[in-house]
Amino acid sequence: MREIGIGIAGFGTVGGGVISILRSHAREIEARLGARIVVRRVAVRDPAKERMVDLDRSFLTTRYQDLITDPSIQVVVELVGGTTEARALVLAALGAGKHVVTANKALLAFHGDEIFRLAQEKGVDVYYEGAVAGGVPVIRTLREALASDRIQAIHGIVNGTTNYILTSMAEKGEPLAKALAEAQRLGYAEADPTLDVSGGDAAQKLCLLAQLAFGARLAPQDVLTEGILGLLPEDFAWAKTFGYTIKLLAVARRSDGGTAPGGLIEARVHPALIPADSMLAGVRGAMNAVLLRSDALGPTLLFGQGAGAMPTGSAVVADIIDLSRNLVSGSPGRVPLPPATPLVSLRSHSEIRTSYYLRFSVKDAPGVLARIAATLASRGISISAVQQREHDEEGVPVALVIVTHEAREADLQAAIGEIDRFDTTSAPTRLIRIEAV
Ligand SMILES: NC(=O)c1ccc[n+]([C@@H]2O[C@H](COP(=O)([O-])OP(=O)(O)OC[C@H]3O[C@@H](n4cnc5c(N)ncnc54)[C@H](OP(=O)(O)O)[C@@H]3O)[C@@H](O)[C@H]2O)c1
Repeated sequence: MREIGIGIAGFGTVGGGVISILRSHAREIEARLGARIVVRRVAVRDPAKERMVDLDRSFLTTRYQDLITDPSIQVVVELVGGTTEARALVLAALGAGKHVVTANKALLAFHGDEIFRLAQEKGVDVYYEGAVAGGVPVIRTLREALASDRIQAIHGIVNGTTNYILTSMAEKGEPLAKALAEAQRLGYAEADPTLDVSGGDAAQKLCLLAQLAFGARLAPQDVLTEGILGLLPEDFAWAKTFGYTIKLLAVARRSDGGTAPGGLIEARVHPALIPADSMLAGVRGAMNAVLLRSDALGPTLLFGQGAGAMPTGSAVVADIIDLSRNLVSGSPGRVPLPPATPLVSLRSHSEIRTSYYLRFSVKDAPGVLARIAATLASRGISISAVQQREHDEEGVPVALVIVTHEAREADLQAAIGEIDRFDTTSAPTRLIRIEAV
């Protein structure tokens, strides 16, 4: 039987999952592929470290270059993480004419152009299913299953850490710090959770999705990114009274009806109020989901585990198999990489239109609501609902919550800027966009 030699760089969480699956599913994989996948070398930093899967030490090397120079390795699997060594390794592998599988969203979000260009030049493949939503096959769905369709919108819950925290806040009424500490205790959050809670991780993933869905070329800094810090248990309680829950959403959608030449898209990551009975509202805990809307198929929901050794390992092994099929049939490059020139442009964030939840902290004085309403109206923002909490103590600010009809982001921000300068406003206004998913 023909053998496909692979070299794996990184034998941590995902690397361990990959080696374990290759071993335990070897017979099924051989039957589906008509070839045998053989691990030739595994690069690590510390060869003496205890591993989750036993592997003969003779396979280990501390020099990733050994994977590049080994002529029996056709596919290099990058599971090192980070962008410095991973970039050097991937570029070296492609430069040597080897195919690459990676699960590294940061690498592709920041250096995708360079990597895809070199892969095209060398006629080799780069597969990266594990980079977005772990084991959930969203990359393959966009690249292959929906190749016939025109995507209109992507709404993703693509960060399990923040989804775990927001679920705890919604269901147990916990403050964010407590929910985060629990997520850390259970291993859902890193010791330094900044990239997750800031929305940065989701923004990196959104760049990869928008590239496949719309032919966009975005860098993470192009995405309007707001994290979950600052959300209060009372925001969840208010959201519930209006029939919503709160999720950190990664949103990319055509914002011109999909008809303008060239096309415009929005790309944003932020907490959003979504209807409590929507499919995404049911995505609880650390689970991930991506809702795609396309012209022919309509809505498609992909749901599953967005991280972990075995779920992510399964996505990586599926990529190795797919890539090996290309090698067996002599058709590398069968599925073209994303286009080098963008097919759409990014709409200015200030032109985005959504409805808004606004939580004002105000002095309980006559005329405050009227003044806020007048300021919103002067910018063409109309109100769909208002709620105010009974004031408990004299002189203590009260929460005033307003839900608006659809409005332009720039008008909304200008109105809030004005309202926050009122002497009756006690704290900066909390704004949460509302998504009709
Ligand atoms: N963990 C997940 O659930 C998950 C989900 C989706 C995507 N990903 C992505 O998958 C990638 C790997 O993540 P992970 O969680 O598996 O990371 P990890 O557990 O920290 O493992 C990293 C591995 O890389 C090795 N390594 C680091 N620098 C190296 C170098 N210069 N040369 C050779 N080996 C080196 C480490 O060696 P030692 O073991 O000897 O230290 C370790 O085995 C990342 O890009 C991550 O974003 C992870």
